[in-house]
Amino acid sequence: MSAFQNIGVVGAGMMGSEIALVFALGGHPTLISDQSRDAAERAVERLHGVLDRGLPRGFWTAEAAEGARRNLTVVDGLDAYGDRDLVIEAVFEDEAMKRGVFQRLDAILAPRAGIASNTSSISITTLSAAVSETRRQRFVGTHFFSPVSRMRLVEVIPAADSDPGFVQAVSDALIAIGKGPIRVKDVVGFAVNRLLHALVIESIRLVEEGVCSPADIDQACKLGLGHPIGPFELMDNTQNSLSLSVHEILHRAYGERFLPQPLLRQMVAAGYNGRKAGRGWHRYGENGKRI
Ligand SMILES: NC(=O)c1ccc[n+]([C@@H]2O[C@H](COP(=O)([O-])OP(=O)(O)OC[C@H]3O[C@@H](n4cnc5c(N)ncnc54)[C@H](O)[C@@H]3O)[C@@H](O)[C@H]2O)c1
Repeated sequence: MSAFQNIGVVGAGMMGSEIALVFALGGHPTLISDQSRDAAERAVERLHGVLDRGLPRGFWTAEAAEGARRNLTVVDGLDAYGDRDLVIEAVFEDEAMKRGVFQRLDAILAPRAGIASNTSSISITTLSAAVSETRRQRFVGTHFFSPVSRMRLVEVIPAADSDPGFVQAVSDALIAIGKGPIRVKDVVGFAVNRLLHALVIESIRLVEEGVCSPADIDQACKLGLGHPIGPFELMDNTQNSLSLSVHEILHRAYGERFLPQPLLRQMVAAGYNGRKAGRGWHRYGENGKRI
């Protein structure tokens, strides 16, 4: 039995909506809100579409899908979160905006309730400083991976003052909804982005040196290393400008080994930003399909 029954999610974008979905599928009554009710309603409609399609097969039963529809509730804003046991924040990656959300939640939530942030690059300890000393014990980072309904990993990142019992309870709640959490220290990039972007940067170096083409490196990673997608395909899907900004953050924190590569800068400056732009490391047709 999870220590957290009632869940709240703040931010109904790509991550927040799917985070709400996995908790709802796990049997938790889940409130979701965004900057406007409309935005949150559109997100929940999309989630109903995901449940209708029944994809990805095998990830949930028809019964869980029915339960999820009942468990997901759109609300106008944070005032409705007073009875939540755990609230996960997934608003824009903007420190001031996130701090504002945490301060409001701190004032609204019961003392026993916890707060989790899905930030990908801001220090969890820094964010926890936005709330009262007592709430800091019940504040943690939960870094989910996209698409959340398929990717089982969650990096669980304690802040300096997090209570170990609370952190364990959050990990247990994640396991109970089918996730595989790992414990990670509050360092820049956490663990997975450091691993991933070490590979991405070395892949770009291989192309710069003329050792391999992007298509061949994608193939090497898929057929030789068992990755589901190659690094150039991944960059194209998530936009090259995002990879560049992650490399800049990692470079500031760790120096030389994450130096953004000139070829990536050139691609971004040229507007070859990836799938949405029609051109990145690969080319894409009108329908977004690779050509
Ligand atoms: N996209 C990813 O792959 C990924 C992976 C891990 C973590 N993250 C992190 O998750 C967070 C959300 O990312 P996303 O990709 O879902 O972004 P997104 O832009 O798709 O969604 C953010 C949502 O938050 C809403 N929002 C903004 N301010 C708000 C406020 N004050 N109150 C309520 N809602 C508000 C926006 O309207 C938007 O719908 C970011 O911190 C991001 O760094 C993203």
